[in-house]
Amino acid sequence: MDMIVKAEAVTKTYLMGKRSLTVLNGVSVGIRPGETVAVIGPSGAGKSTLLHALGGLDQPTTGEVWFKGQSLYRLSPEERTMIRARHVGFVFQSYHLLPELDVVENVMLPTMAIRGMRRERAKTLERAEHLLDTVGLSDRLRHTPLELSGGEQQRVALARALMNEPELVLADEPTGNLDSVTGEHILKCLFGLTRERRHTLVLVTHNNEIAARCDRVIRMKDGRVEE
Ligand SMILES: Nc1ncnc2c1ncn2[C@@H]1O[C@H](COP(=O)(O)OP(=O)(O)OP(=O)(O)O)[C@@H](O)[C@H]1O
Ligand SMILES: [Mg+2]
Repeated sequence: MDMIVKAEAVTKTYLMGKRSLTVLNGVSVGIRPGETVAVIGPSGAGKSTLLHALGGLDQPTTGEVWFKGQSLYRLSPEERTMIRARHVGFVFQSYHLLPELDVVENVMLPTMAIRGMRRERAKTLERAEHLLDTVGLSDRLRHTPLELSGGEQQRVALARALMNEPELVLADEPTGNLDSVTGEHILKCLFGLTRERRHTLVLVTHNNEIAARCDRVIRMKDGRVEE
């Protein structure tokens, strides 16, 4: 079956003065549509870097990333941004909410990048409120991020990632900073909302039990995939 996203011999090297640091060292992985894939491995293995590369956020030094048959980094930055806005939802390790916007506005943010959706404000507002209800935040709609706990902020970030019904959801340790009850709630939402719609999910985690709940596990070490 065709892959939704595919990394081909991807490397990422940072130049640090005279020395260079290779954090991805020839990574080839393919993700099938509808799959739930965990990425595990020690800190510094390159998990976040790979996730960003797959989502069009971080250009590899060499190699190629294919998203639905298009070579992501051969597109213009504008074209890449449009693909991201339409098809990819990110949940970051730190939540990346905009402090000056309230909860609903943060969740609606991805729709702003897409022309046409701006005009359908009533519909997007309804969807944002529905998602916030799903993650248990219907009584926090007009709070700003600073008025929320960490777990609540992560739930807002999750709702925002799903706002455009992305075919591909990339989640970087979405429960890393949360207590186990809140973490479980986030995971239920994440698995529930993606599997229900047959969206593809790539999830970075340090937790083997969470990895075991995915269809497949990719193990990384020292910038390589171990299989
Ligand atoms: N902008 C940068 N410049 C130089 N080195 C960087 C940069 N960004 C990341 N690195 C290095 O790349 C390596 C891989 O980072 P990455 O964030 O992908 O690791 P990770 O597997 O996600 O780790 P963790 O589990 O701690 O989140 C790290 O050793 C990090 O120091
Ligand atoms: Mg990381």
